[in-house]
Amino acid sequence: MLWCSAFILLFAHIVIASPVAGRWDDFVEKHSWVEIPKGWELYSEAPSSYTFDLRIGLKQGWSLSYFRGFDRYGQHLSKEEAEEFVRPRPESAEAVEAWLKAHGIAADDVVHRTGGADWITVRVSVAQAERMLGTKYAVFYHTKSGEMAVRTMSYGLPRELHSHINLVAPTTYFSNEEPAASDSDTPSSCDSKITPDCLRTLYNTEGYAPRAAHKNTLGIAGYLEDYANHADLQAFYKQFRPDATGFNYSTVRVNGGLDDQTKPGVESNLDVQYSTGISFPTPTTFWSTGGSPPFKPDTHTPTNTNEPYLEWLNFVLGQKEIPSVISTSYGDDEQTVPRDYATEVCNLFAQLGSTGTTVFFSSGDFGVGGGDCKTNDGTNQTLFQPMFPASCPFVTAVGGTTKTNPEVVANLSGGGFSRYFSSPGYQRTAVKKYLGTLGNTYAGLFAKGGRAYPDVSAQSMNFQVVAGGKVISVAGTSASSPTVAGVFALLNDYRISEGKPKLGFVNPLLYSTAASGFNDITSGSNPGCGTSGFAARPGWDPVTGLGTPDFSKLKDLV
Ligand SMILES: *[C@@H]1O[C@H](CO)[C@@H](O)[C@H](O)[C@H]1NC(C)=O
Ligand SMILES: *[C@@H]1O[C@H](CO)[C@@H](O)[C@H](O)[C@H]1NC(C)=O
Ligand SMILES: *[C@@H]1O[C@H](CO)[C@@H](O)[C@H](O)[C@H]1NC(C)=O
Repeated sequence: MLWCSAFILLFAHIVIASPVAGRWDDFVEKHSWVEIPKGWELYSEAPSSYTFDLRIGLKQGWSLSYFRGFDRYGQHLSKEEAEEFVRPRPESAEAVEAWLKAHGIAADDVVHRTGGADWITVRVSVAQAERMLGTKYAVFYHTKSGEMAVRTMSYGLPRELHSHINLVAPTTYFSNEEPAASDSDTPSSCDSKITPDCLRTLYNTEGYAPRAAHKNTLGIAGYLEDYANHADLQAFYKQFRPDATGFNYSTVRVNGGLDDQTKPGVESNLDVQYSTGISFPTPTTFWSTGGSPPFKPDTHTPTNTNEPYLEWLNFVLGQKEIPSVISTSYGDDEQTVPRDYATEVCNLFAQLGSTGTTVFFSSGDFGVGGGDCKTNDGTNQTLFQPMFPASCPFVTAVGGTTKTNPEVVANLSGGGFSRYFSSPGYQRTAVKKYLGTLGNTYAGLFAKGGRAYPDVSAQSMNFQVVAGGKVISVAGTSASSPTVAGVFALLNDYRISEGKPKLGFVNPLLYSTAASGFNDITSGSNPGCGTSGFAARPGWDPVTGLGTPDFSKLKDLV
């Protein structure tokens, strides 16, 4: 009862212009909540002398299309030129400076964040912030974690500053804003519902602000008349990544591929929503590729649902600018892809890697094999059935995990050994160690000397996806690949911002220097073909690979 009345007292008169509405008192609301965000409760008024860092995000003076124009003509901006373009317009800096000065904040107290002048940080007292933003701060506590936070239910900005400032924090955003969250900070809701916040916390990208979005692109490959939907993406951002609202991807149609916005595809929506849910604001391309490739049926895949990779590869390799990271959530039983076609496609993936692109594929959703696992060569043997293109040694195959504390195997996670491609040098030591512990188990069911996969893994269950305007729950390594692609788009962003080249084909690095940048998954297995499948073990295993990415560790390792 008491809290209730305190609530009314605190928040009833927010963002109202004072009687003498001077230049800095003419407030217009920036953002407000109708009720306290879920999980939080009002604790007390905020002590007016309490001080904290107030961060002010300025609008940037550049437009993305300007950079695209540069790229098209093969010109590159120097680091200094690029910084020039992300620098806010001079009139924005001037207006904000005048406003700060009017509130007694001297130029010396202003910290410009390194690596871009688009954020300003100032140390203020609660009383100062309340006057600046026409609001009232309070102390809130998070009922589950007991965390206390000074936040407000609503804030405004002087009318003339709305065109210069994107965002002020901390204000109305209640989630953990600090980086370096450990696994135990992941909300327990992530065990039953995966959202971008879960993944950003779990894989430690949350505290990273992208700096090189003007020089980086992420690509999503779509096939089989499954289309990403623009309206669903905006609904997704609004609910799950509000700061990305308004962000868009561009669709490129290849080989007669269509883009029917009346038919939202679950796969493509998942891919675009979760890759950009992590990599925002990295520009993103969605390719819709038409057609179908050569095909040899088997009992698991009796009709041609294989994808026309060759058409897509020929198109993409002909482009001047190829994204730094590409994710594809498609795959087929390796034996249904003619060996010569698979070899050609795999070689072209190698070419893509050598031009600076990291190519991710999901590892499949059928453990060590789907269906009855019979061979289609006339002999009808039962063998583990590897998936292609995950089995190509020049792609990075992504397996699936679930739960959060700890993460464990998702039993659908595709994994195994190629019968077409032999084990590449970069993984031989890791694979040999695993085979040593396996002994004779499953001898004859898989090709011991084959390219082993997956290489890495990520969450794969309970992804909250918007499709056709509704939130649905989606599972599969289809979810894992765009997740890892989102993390690696940010790694490339970091490298580019440091003046380093893009990562490109990354497997040799992952199995060596960067191996300690992954969370090792050691519990669970991937059943299939009438067996319980391979068991996850410490180190690399053919279920979760090296493990799930830890962005903050990888950032230092790559
Ligand atoms: C995104 O781009 C598509 C295609 O150009 C367009 O129809 C849609 O309105 C755009 N959405 C937003 C939010 O800009
Ligand atoms: C393999 O299975 C197919 C279809 O199930 C059957 O037609 C064929 O005779 C079998 N071959 C052998 C060698 O058993
Ligand atoms: C795989 O895990 C799911 C729960 O995620 C369970 O319902 C299913 O029975 C498991 N399948 C096998 C073959 O163990």
